[in-house]
Amino acid sequence: MTGTLTVTENAVPKPKTLPDAQTVTAVTHWTDRLFSFRVSRPQTLRFRSGEFVMIGLMDDNGRPLLRAYSIASPSWDEELEFYSIKVPDGPLTSRLQHIEVGDQIILRPKPVGTLVLDALLPGEHLWFLATGTGLAPFASLMRDPETYEKFEQVIMMHTCRTVEELEYGRRLVEGLKNDPLIGEMVEGKLLYYPTTTREESPNMGRITDNLSSGKAFVDLGLPPMAQGRDRAMVCGSLAFNVDVKKVLEGFGLTEGANSDPREFVVEKAFVGEGI
Ligand code: FAD
Ligand code: A2P
Repeated sequence: MTGTLTVTENAVPKPKTLPDAQTVTAVTHWTDRLFSFRVSRPQTLRFRSGEFVMIGLMDDNGRPLLRAYSIASPSWDEELEFYSIKVPDGPLTSRLQHIEVGDQIILRPKPVGTLVLDALLPGEHLWFLATGTGLAPFASLMRDPETYEKFEQVIMMHTCRTVEELEYGRRLVEGLKNDPLIGEMVEGKLLYYPTTTREESPNMGRITDNLSSGKAFVDLGLPPMAQGRDRAMVCGSLAFNVDVKKVLEGFGLTEGANSDPREFVVEKAFVGEGI
């Protein structure tokens, strides 16, 4: 076959744009420590609500500076949403907090994580237990119809130091009632239990204390957790995760994983001991 021109993949010129770049479509600053933003979604990206990806910016040396971020939007959304801390001297967030609509960020389209519905055994009540930006994976799961198809009652417990730190979650839950896709599914099924620990608000106290004392169950009109009925997902600081795990185990629940579904799953909201 002499004289035949063979075209191989190597012969196709590569595009010279930023790899995995996505465009910022919206930015909202909630407090001087918290903001959320939306970006375009890679057409090929499939993920399960609750998973996280690596996102970031180019550093001054032209190298990608990436961090793990939970996707806060549900798997059906056309865009991707993120809910972020602003760490004053944080390598990434000291810069990321200044992004504006039209800017580009890097997003590696390889979603992973343990906070997925598949990692839990079937049950009736699903508890989302979060502190701070640990709300992000649940912002995704609270907007996913599958959550309400699988569970009769979904309870979002979110604790922050102050009232203003709860605002992103409060607005999101409030908006769900009028959501054309899941507004009706959420009605009567989603219970929201926000608390503060360092500022007066209608509900006070740490999640661990409110579960251990039984206060949360009384306030919500639900029975105490039981292994056969209750499932939980946990996302907060390491100290929070360790302490909640003990509380859940006290109710007879055991920790599972993607490969071994059980009664609860845990993921760190960040690495380190807080700011
Ligand atoms: P880093 O050098 O990464 O962090 C500096 C210090 O800031 C840390 O040691 C810690 O003490 C503190 N810190 C970092 N992140 C947080 C946080 N979220 N809340 C409170 N204190 C923090 N961050 C988000 O803001 N939103 C998310 O959805 C999110 N999802 C994550 C999912 C996973 C699985 C993991 C492991 C981390 C996640 N993080 C999330 C944390 C994130 O990866 C970065 O640590 C954060 O963006 C700060 O980056 P940085 O480079 O500015 O500072
Ligand atoms: P507290 O104010 O009593 O420390 P942070 O801003 O430090 O990340 O904390 C976020 C929220 O998580 C705060 O309301 C804090 O309560 C709470 N929290 C921190 N550590 C724990 C823990 N080990 N168990 C339960 N709640 C915790």
